[in-house]
Amino acid sequence: MRSIILACLAATASAASQKARYILYFDQWHKTVLPNNTVTAGITHVITAFANSALFTTDPVGEYVPFMDLASVRAMFDPGTKVCMAIGGWGDTDGFSAGAANDTSRKLFAKNVAKTVKKLGYDCVDVDWEFPGGNGEDYKRNPNSGKVSEIETYPLLLSEIKKVLTCHGYELSIAVPARGDDMIAYTTEQVPKINKIVDYVNVMTYDIMNRRDNVTKHHTSLKGSLEAIDAYISRGFTPSKLNLGFAFYTKWFTTAPGAQCDEPIGCPTEVLEDANGADTGKAGAMTFEAANFAPVPTNLTDSPDASCGAGSYYRCPNSACCSQSNWCGTEPAHCGTGCQSGYGRCDGPSIKDSFSEALANGKFDIVNGGQWYWDAEPRIFWTWDTPQIIARKFTEIVAQKGLGGVFAWSLAQDSYDWSHLLALQAGVKGM
Ligand SMILES: *[C@@H]1O[C@H](CO)[C@@H](O)[C@H](O)[C@H]1NC(C)=O
Ligand SMILES: *[C@@H]1O[C@H](CO)[C@@H](O)[C@H](O)[C@H]1NC(C)=O
Ligand SMILES: *[C@@H]1O[C@H](CO)[C@@H](O)[C@H](O)[C@H]1NC(C)=O
Ligand SMILES: *[C@@H]1O[C@H](CO)[C@@H](O)[C@H](O)[C@H]1NC(C)=O
Repeated sequence: MRSIILACLAATASAASQKARYILYFDQWHKTVLPNNTVTAGITHVITAFANSALFTTDPVGEYVPFMDLASVRAMFDPGTKVCMAIGGWGDTDGFSAGAANDTSRKLFAKNVAKTVKKLGYDCVDVDWEFPGGNGEDYKRNPNSGKVSEIETYPLLLSEIKKVLTCHGYELSIAVPARGDDMIAYTTEQVPKINKIVDYVNVMTYDIMNRRDNVTKHHTSLKGSLEAIDAYISRGFTPSKLNLGFAFYTKWFTTAPGAQCDEPIGCPTEVLEDANGADTGKAGAMTFEAANFAPVPTNLTDSPDASCGAGSYYRCPNSACCSQSNWCGTEPAHCGTGCQSGYGRCDGPSIKDSFSEALANGKFDIVNGGQWYWDAEPRIFWTWDTPQIIARKFTEIVAQKGLGGVFAWSLAQDSYDWSHLLALQAGVKGM
């Protein structure tokens, strides 16, 4: 008994004394073009995404199969880089809700997480519940009113997970939202409890404008990022536990007909989300991955499985449209503004042409610290981060607020020239 307790104490102590954290999410949807070890040098943690939360609610535990074997993942990084398993992600809330429900379900969830991590050989766990208390992808189908208890049960679930992980020396982190509306479970009462449990917190200081907005703003500006960090510090997180988040993608939104968007803030948009909470096909994201900069291949064939788009050699048959998320279909989400014109029918403008134009002509908003562009003819507002702004975030936010590290979503989304990743590498060197 005595030796077990000592082992636990040792594990906790070593986790506490750490150099600056430099973390990359590695997502299962982007793995075609990967960086070499010079580009990944310095990264301290890589978090593979995602294991579905529902796997951990059953007895026996469901099986998670990582999208790449962990030895291959490790080979891409410095020796000793920690490899963590992320659970959840956008749209995955049911398993967390069930897992958090009561003492029995929490203990089972925690035990299952530990079992999986041990079996697969991960070093750490990241909980990406978007979001405890509501406002997730399902917020119209499962309203926030049915999730009030999660504000109380979320720290209890984290505590159970941490308890079973600690004795094995595994770290526990969480990903938290940047939009004030979504910080439902991060109240001044709850944050101090959460702060005590987790090793560190990935603040997703991006997507600050989303399809639930009806006027434009930056999605990851200096000002917007700082506001989110300040909100969490004022609610009780220790600054050194916080990591500042970076996005390796642009976001775009269709502005309202007739609107003249000469300023990045406050320009009216079209309706971007319908009454059921579904995408109207008028907003989206474009990553900095190589395929989004390359010409459409000339040897496309009809898709056998409804996959299509940049990075593949498939077009959509039967005059279907290829959506921005690389699926064939005929819904507005496939055929609307984000659709990929080289790979199928499009009812809207070509998003790729507008993307190139935005990157070539982007403007810097000095007041708010964000890069933006308004493409007048297709009425598209673009918002993104440049390597220059990334460098400023290190001095004006990370250093200024005494944060413990940085992270980005996600590794291979920057494959065009790795310039955002290299900007992070340079910034971390200076910490
Ligand atoms: C690693 O990749 C970078 C960026 O693509 C490139 O400039 C560099 O030459 C590569 N280094 C090695 C050793 O291959
Ligand atoms: C605990 O919650 C689970 C659902 O997550 C439910 O199936 C179970 O009946 C609950 N147990 C108790 C004792 O309330
Ligand atoms: C725009 O959104 C705000 C708050 O998000 C809301 O109060 C307002 O009614 C909306 N305006 C329109 C025209 O939908
Ligand atoms: C299309 O051409 C590329 C090289 O340009 C090649 O790598 C790819 O395999 C070809 N795809 C098909 C389906 O023939």
